[in-house]
Amino acid sequence: MGLFHMRDELLKLHVADMGEEEVAALREALAGGWLTRGPRTTRFEQELGRYVGAEQMLGTNSCTAALHLGLSVAGIGPGDEVIVPAQTFAASANVVVHCGARPVLADVRPDTHTIDPGHVAELITERTRAIIPVHFAGTPADLDELAELADKHGLFLMEDCAHAIEAQYRGRPVGVGGCPATRFAAYSFYTTKNLITGEGGMLACRTPEDRQRAQVLGLHGMSADAWQRYSSAGGGGFRLYDIIAAGYKYNMFDLQAALGLAQLAKLDANWERRRERVAQYNELIAGVEGVTPLAYPAYVKPAYHIYLVRLDPALLKAAPVATDGAPHASPVRDGVINALRRRQVEAYVHYICLSETEFYRRLLGTDDKTTPVAADLARRSITLPLFPTMAPADVEYVVAMLKEALSEICG
Ligand SMILES: Cc1ncc(COP(=O)(O)O)c(C=O)c1O
Repeated sequence: MGLFHMRDELLKLHVADMGEEEVAALREALAGGWLTRGPRTTRFEQELGRYVGAEQMLGTNSCTAALHLGLSVAGIGPGDEVIVPAQTFAASANVVVHCGARPVLADVRPDTHTIDPGHVAELITERTRAIIPVHFAGTPADLDELAELADKHGLFLMEDCAHAIEAQYRGRPVGVGGCPATRFAAYSFYTTKNLITGEGGMLACRTPEDRQRAQVLGLHGMSADAWQRYSSAGGGGFRLYDIIAAGYKYNMFDLQAALGLAQLAKLDANWERRRERVAQYNELIAGVEGVTPLAYPAYVKPAYHIYLVRLDPALLKAAPVATDGAPHASPVRDGVINALRRRQVEAYVHYICLSETEFYRRLLGTDDKTTPVAADLARRSITLPLFPTMAPADVEYVVAMLKEALSEICG
């Protein structure tokens, strides 16, 4: 165990920074007696909009819902293709399927794991309608190159900003506030994200018309929301509604927004705390043989959402460790993750390559050769703990345990 004693408790991959501010905000919201969408949601939309440089914001109950709404508002449907990186959470591609359209999986850059504009260019057909760049781990995708492709082919971008509220690309915020080709941007406030409401999301729209359509589609297709229908404060007097589409139930509610407002007040301070931990990790990891961290291009401000290292390819040839036999299993990676867990460090994989998942292999006929870079990176990537309240000593512990785990599994 060297200089480090084994911890008694598991060091979690992520711990939400929830304190008195959030408790007070929830108590106040509960006491107000109005729990669903109402004034707090509107305020959260406005304040987050100011933060990301966008005016047309719509609170939703998840980022997945926001992504689905964006595609639905744009009329994406059967016969359409939408290009999505293979290195992302399933939701980024699943929403395309929910619309009856076909996700086309693109490969990623080996240094940042963001969508590779060169591969996107090869995948564009006359059926392509949109590209969904994912700002993986909080590092912006190559928005200028993607915007150029979008303009050339008459497509729009919908940015998946689930990891990237604070991120900037060439001095501009990611999302509709920064990139003119972006019609929608979707944010996540899931419990592991940079701003947390438990579950929750936000759709940023370029135009008020799109936002209006998204609001109606996200609330049963009703032409007015409950706050407007019941409350004199919402618009003055009784308002009859109509049903103008078979919409969904995707709205944010005021308890979420109360948490969101309290979390927004801490967003920059928590970004700074994660930035410090990432800098510390990078310094220590430089002395660990066999692993490389993600790269951060000079022209981006990363959101530092997760911290992951890639095992050197040579290490994957180490003695095999038993796995569950899935096609995307990676015995050495999984062995290192388990060795870390035995040392009280929770580690994870972001993400298995979508081209190799059971569903997308069946639907699209893809495999590891469809997006070879993403497939390879997924087999070599290990996410280590990162969260704002993490102590410098925690980072030292993780790196020491990583060294031990590597020497146990890879020799
Ligand atoms: C890249 C990415 N996109 C979309 C989502 C979906 O977010 P939500 O859980 O808020 O629906 C996630 C969530 O983990 C994600 O990581």
